Amino acid sequence: MQTDPSQKYRPFPPVPLSDRRWPGRTLTHAPSWCSVDLRDGNQALAVPMNVAQKLELFQALVRCGFQEIEVGFPSASNTEFAFNRLLIEKGHIPDNVTVQVLVQAREDLIERTFQSLAGARRVIIHLYNSTSPAQRRVVFGKSREEIKAIAVQGARWIQERLHRLPGTDVRLQYSPESFSATEVEFAREISEAVMDVWRPTPERRMILNLPDTVEVAMPNVYADQIEWMCRNLRDREALIVSLHTHNDRGTGVAATELGLLAGADRVEGCLFGNGERTGNLDLVTVALNLYMHGIHPGLNLSDLDGIRRIYTRCTGMGVPPRHPYAGELVFTAFSGSHQDAIKKGLAEWASGGRTHWDVPYLTIDPADIGREYSEVIRVNSQSGKGGVAFLLEDKFRIELPKDLQREFGPIANDLVDALGREVSAEELRDMFWKEYVERTTPWRLVHFHADGVDGVFDCRCTVVRDGQELSLTGRGNGPIAAFVHALAGAGVPKFEVADFRQHALETGEEASAIAYIQVQGADGRKRWGVGVDTHIELASIQAVLSALNRL
Ligand code: KIV
Ligand code: ZN
Repeated sequence: MQTDPSQKYRPFPPVPLSDRRWPGRTLTHAPSWCSVDLRDGNQALAVPMNVAQKLELFQALVRCGFQEIEVGFPSASNTEFAFNRLLIEKGHIPDNVTVQVLVQAREDLIERTFQSLAGARRVIIHLYNSTSPAQRRVVFGKSREEIKAIAVQGARWIQERLHRLPGTDVRLQYSPESFSATEVEFAREISEAVMDVWRPTPERRMILNLPDTVEVAMPNVYADQIEWMCRNLRDREALIVSLHTHNDRGTGVAATELGLLAGADRVEGCLFGNGERTGNLDLVTVALNLYMHGIHPGLNLSDLDGIRRIYTRCTGMGVPPRHPYAGELVFTAFSGSHQDAIKKGLAEWASGGRTHWDVPYLTIDPADIGREYSEVIRVNSQSGKGGVAFLLEDKFRIELPKDLQREFGPIANDLVDALGREVSAEELRDMFWKEYVERTTPWRLVHFHADGVDGVFDCRCTVVRDGQELSLTGRGNGPIAAFVHALAGAGVPKFEVADFRQHALETGEEASAIAYIQVQGADGRKRWGVGVDTHIELASIQAVLSALNRL
């Protein structure tokens, strides 16, 4: 790295907009969306998608509700051309979906693009040429006037061929590529020169796409650029101003959101931020950010895992575990205090006590995007009793009494710590079973029977102590009390039942019950025991022995 980076790099110059209005605004509605997964996203893949993969992704995008989908660059390769033809000829494009195709301002490419569109119902033809000082100087070696002439000529070549698509509803789009690195005055000049050719009207608007081709500044600067354009372009009402951000500085989403505040109408991007270099704008994040503020994005993301699976299969790209909304770990809490807060928040929400979502640590209800509560809480050595209890209850309906949670939490924590990894709910249940339910030494129950008359119960039971079978009898005001007295008669040091809960565990033929009993020894020490049996009374007797075995 440079010791003085200012010798090599410089800040981006501010936009001449001192009375900017976007900072005081709030988003109130969703923009229109255009997925560029099949073009910008595809051209960024080491192995571009084949026709079958593009079709699968196209159909997934349609199911998500995208009504504008850039399907490719048909003049760039035979695959792209063939894909376009397949969509049109095989009727894969629903009536409410417009396909968009990209083309450079070159006559041969425009000609081929028109050939690829024959018979389409509705299309957007997207013309672009690059406009920034670096592109003008390094790539084209042309002046501003010459760069403008390229755009105008491209627009004319398109205009002249429109009659070749009879019966096709054609909308036109122009992108001054590298807009965000272009002087705003020149971006306006070149955009208006294209408008002069295409003559958009409020009834027949053209799309002016203003790309953040490479993020060169902070998102507030992009917002200034968009507001400047919206306020200074002529015939604004004849334009659909579109955003197309990339993520070079990691702020593609922010730039789009601020660009919408600044007056844009439309957003281009890719699922999960796929695209050149650091990616295009992540459409899913912007859409769900709107959703979490109560604005329906107009996209159906209710099966986000399913969308992610198709995306991964088709593009070969992954979604990082901490990716907003879609990442495997984003609705997961390992930390005990987070788990506790989430558990309480989810319980409050489930009780119906609140109208609006306000669960700590969860921006939206994971269920709304098809994710499960059970993945919300996962247990590792950082987790506390809350997470352990949540998983046991959520997965196995084991509703640990609060005080038992306090007892088992640290035990589970030590076991997980020793393993040095995350544990599954099944593993946690096994730990719980081993610690409580399967405690059969020194005491084990062989047989128990109790009869009660007028609130007085007599029990007869067989237990094994240290391998030796004992037959005992006892009397009390309930079966448990009778059993405790029977044990006292066998010389067990005095203890009391301090707490007792029970509930059904499973229903149907497999029906069983679980009982939790806390006993207190003569020295004041308390321990929980747990019993499970198909017979509720036997579950509680087993629980007494489990507690005794742990005392
Ligand atoms: O990033 C970009 O500028 C583009 C244009 C072709 C719109 O992808
Ligand atoms: Zn792009």
